[in-house]
Amino acid sequence: MRQKIVAGNWKMNKSFLEAEELLDQIAEEQDSYEGDVQVIVCPPALYLELASDYAEEYPLFVGAQNVSQFVKGAYTGEISAAMLASMDGVTHCIVGHSERRKYFGETDKIIAEKIKILLSFEITPIYCCGETLEQRKKGVHLETVSDQIEEALFHLSNEEIENIVIAYEPVWAIGTGENAMPEQAQEMHDYIRRLLLDKYGNEEANNISILYGGSVNPENAKNIFAMPDVDGGLIGGASLNAADFLAIRDAF
Ligand code: PGA
Repeated sequence: MRQKIVAGNWKMNKSFLEAEELLDQIAEEQDSYEGDVQVIVCPPALYLELASDYAEEYPLFVGAQNVSQFVKGAYTGEISAAMLASMDGVTHCIVGHSERRKYFGETDKIIAEKIKILLSFEITPIYCCGETLEQRKKGVHLETVSDQIEEALFHLSNEEIENIVIAYEPVWAIGTGENAMPEQAQEMHDYIRRLLLDKYGNEEANNISILYGGSVNPENAKNIFAMPDVDGGLIGGASLNAADFLAIRDAF
């Protein structure tokens, strides 16, 4: 059985007090949660320690939004995988988000390095891929995602790939209010799973959770999650509100 996951990517939002308030609300609801969806919060790095404290007490997982591709040393402003691992509660890390690709020049080659280093510290990468609107209009969305996955992931061994979560996030759907149709998500998720199957075999392909991301909200989540190859969501805007975020968890 593949793990169902709902992960909240807070991006660059919330003051410390607001972060505490949001974590309080999510933790309180998680405390009595009996379902089988893994809930992950990915706050800004400054609040990872705070979130880790909650994760110690409540059924909640914590992910970083980014990590350095370098091991340690003179890289001003960067946070290493070792640092993330040294905060016990940090179990996941988003890598390759389209905003990092667009604004910070991240390539799949760099992302591949980040993934390797995260795995060496037993942190689960949540690897984001997805096409732009232009690429979808040109009809090259499948090739685009296939190239991304090949470059960022296919250097991994069979044991390593099982510790990856993939998030398909069409760039045109992120923060735009325009989510992919459930069938469009399913087409891509099925395609990604077949790529994994060809490279790694049936067991690995079937065990890897593939999340959909891009304007998921409490209204559209149910239809998206009903697709057989969609194992959850990476939620941006709607994860900033506890009620919306947990309503998405409950859409399974
Ligand atoms: P969104 O963001 O839900 O606000 O579209 C998703 C993401 O960027 O991970």
